Amino acid sequence: MRRVVQFSTGNVGQHSLRAVIGRPDLELVGVHAASPDKIGRDAAQLCGLTEPTGVIATDDLDALIALRPDCVVYTALGETRPMEALEQMSRILAAGINIVGTSMVWLVTPRQLDDWLRVPLEKACAQGNSSLYVNGIDPGYSGDTAVHAALSLVTRAESVTIKEVFDYGNYDDAEYTGAAMGFGTAPDDDLPMAFQPGVIVAMFGGLVRNLAAALGVELDDVRQRFEPWYTPERIECAMMTVEPGRLAGVRFAAEGVRGDRPVITVEHTTRLTPAAAPDWEYPPNGLDGVHMVIVEGEPRIELTTHLSHPVLDVTEAGCVSTAARAVNAIDWVCDAPAGLIALEDIPPTAMIRGLMW
Ligand SMILES: NC(=O)c1ccc[n+]([C@@H]2O[C@H](COP(=O)([O-])OP(=O)(O)OC[C@H]3O[C@@H](n4cnc5c(N)ncnc54)[C@H](OP(=O)(O)O)[C@@H]3O)[C@@H](O)[C@H]2O)c1
Repeated sequence: MRRVVQFSTGNVGQHSLRAVIGRPDLELVGVHAASPDKIGRDAAQLCGLTEPTGVIATDDLDALIALRPDCVVYTALGETRPMEALEQMSRILAAGINIVGTSMVWLVTPRQLDDWLRVPLEKACAQGNSSLYVNGIDPGYSGDTAVHAALSLVTRAESVTIKEVFDYGNYDDAEYTGAAMGFGTAPDDDLPMAFQPGVIVAMFGGLVRNLAAALGVELDDVRQRFEPWYTPERIECAMMTVEPGRLAGVRFAAEGVRGDRPVITVEHTTRLTPAAAPDWEYPPNGLDGVHMVIVEGEPRIELTTHLSHPVLDVTEAGCVSTAARAVNAIDWVCDAPAGLIALEDIPPTAMIRGLMW
């Protein structure tokens, strides 16, 4: 039985919390909450369960560390507060507690990390003899597990393209995702934060370089491209209302090139409602959002992943799967050698142990 602390109960964290409570091989011993209205509440309430757990949410990290859990599931939003998240993770690791998580998406490819993130985390792992593993669905599954599965079916690969084709209309996050991607902005406004020079490569280039390293391929460059789509009609959705002439679709990619030819591409086509960007690719078969891997090779492979759920929409189902990528690794990570763990370090079957009970 692994003793687990859940750190945060947002979009992803409420699902990892539910998973930890549900699994017979994991014991929930603590929950972190940052929001004042969550502190003091039972963990069950914070993830929509009715039967109390007796575990009460706190913002006292030292008290959670003092519980001596085997593992912390760290799903607090990290990218907007990287130094604070780094400091919290380092304290946990240095205290000898392992972390699985979804935050700080650069950590999905730890061998591609910049020193500001890698050095303090490696030091904390060494100090605490602990390990850290971060993954998700995209980045994460779509660029590692799915690609490995697709490439296992070819005798030669000429190129690999990883695509997310998604409608973010139902994603109620205008403040962070909406603003970063520039939805609702005009053509002569500043370039959205996510598409400024170098930012796509900073977010997704690690994935491209990591795959190149795994394939044993030398890239000449990793570059980025971005196309906006401005709506002629008003678009209304949960994310926001977009007035005519404003941004309601984006297509962007990080491309690993040999010569001038992209050989490893990570591309996102993101629209607000199906009305946006009608000339761009839609998910196949009328689906609402997919992750795809396309290998041009011998033979050609097209692998499409679509999530669905009887109650949750596809975006929330993605949060469940993101939570799964962290929680399913707890057992293995708790016995792993100290340091930063990548998906490729973990035997695939180690991730499925405990899933069926
Ligand atoms: N790779 C993937 O596929 C993927 C997919 C989805 C998300 N993610 C990543 O997973 C992380 C969580 O995403 P999300 O959508 O769940 O985020 P979110 O709901 O926006 O935020 C998660 C939580 O962050 C906590 N938080 C905010 N400020 C904090 C602070 N100062 N100290 C401690 N905690 C703080 C809040 O905790 P409380 O609830 O306690 O107030 C909030 O609920 C992000 O880093 C995101 O990039 C990755």
